[in-house]
Amino acid sequence: MTTQYNIAVLGGDGIGPEVIAEGVKVLDAIGKKFDMEFEYEYALIGGCAYDQYKVPLPDTTILTAKNSDAVFLGAVGDWKYDELPPEVRPEKALLGIRKELGLFANLRPAIVYDELVSSSPLKPEIVSGVDIMVIRELTGDVYFGQPKGVEVIDGKRTGFNNMIYNEDEVRRIAHVGFKTAMKRNKKLCSVDKANVLDCSRLWREIVLEVAKEYPEVELSHMYVDNAAMQLIREPKQFDTIVTGNIFGDILTDEASMLPGSLGLLPSASLSDGSIGMYEPIHGSAPSLRGKDVVNPIATILSAAMMMKYSFNNDEAYQLIQNAVKSVLKSGYRTQDIYTDGCVLVGTQQMGNLIAQEILY
Ligand code: IPM
Ligand code: MG
Repeated sequence: MTTQYNIAVLGGDGIGPEVIAEGVKVLDAIGKKFDMEFEYEYALIGGCAYDQYKVPLPDTTILTAKNSDAVFLGAVGDWKYDELPPEVRPEKALLGIRKELGLFANLRPAIVYDELVSSSPLKPEIVSGVDIMVIRELTGDVYFGQPKGVEVIDGKRTGFNNMIYNEDEVRRIAHVGFKTAMKRNKKLCSVDKANVLDCSRLWREIVLEVAKEYPEVELSHMYVDNAAMQLIREPKQFDTIVTGNIFGDILTDEASMLPGSLGLLPSASLSDGSIGMYEPIHGSAPSLRGKDVVNPIATILSAAMMMKYSFNNDEAYQLIQNAVKSVLKSGYRTQDIYTDGCVLVGTQQMGNLIAQEILY
């Protein structure tokens, strides 16, 4: 029997729609293989939404997302919106949709495939075999804390944001961290800045409380500055990492250099409810738009995460992973991961190759 799924497709700005198109090719291939039928509902988000509606996250887009089984998102932002007031900047839409859908848990795996060890700027012996899952809290922290703003205080223009977490917010992300670790190698590293920040001290206290419910998990704590260094020095010491919004934002860009390109890292953003959102961790790269040069693999692997986390289809997840690996093994590379002797392909050809491999 064919199962139907509604997917809200939000391509966004810059290269977003291009990489999403390749992701949709892969979803269609998966649909054929597994008797799943995907209905796509397209909606605008980011700068393109602003151009049409004067807001970056229109109500219709929120509604489309809320009525879907999963959201598939490209990227938002373009320098042409840099002068807009903060409230209507494209990035605001991303924060808005995370908040609207309650997507507090952001899963960002950094896996170094054997085929790509040479694409990393780091030495092969450091990166080969790396398989890290970063759990980033996504709806709190300085991203959303009040008060915030730029005001004149004591005659000086002063900018401020508030790093704030309450215990419930820390507890629920800690549980995601421990549960994820339980399914992996039962090693969890909680990253904070408890030597300086009060907010981090509470974070650590709560993580320690939650740890009592997971006696099998080996828990460690690391300050974020040290974690940034250790990720490069010896990434294989990490299995699962759990951290707050801003630290997770920074560490996952850093972690993308283990496999060697931002174009390889997917993400899943999950809530307590049923809707998940899937997007590459890279941005909209407006200067590369329309050139058919960017890597769609991060987006395609995000579609794989959708199979696993929204549709409970581990087999489809694995099939997409394997298809990506086998295309890489055959030597095909987009320019961001190109090394001598490989076959240079564009965005669309990479998508075609992976989709074909799935159908094969
Ligand atoms: C990310 C991005 C976003 C963030 C920006 C575009 C708002 O960097 O998803 O990592 O900071 O969360
Ligand atoms: Mg980021």
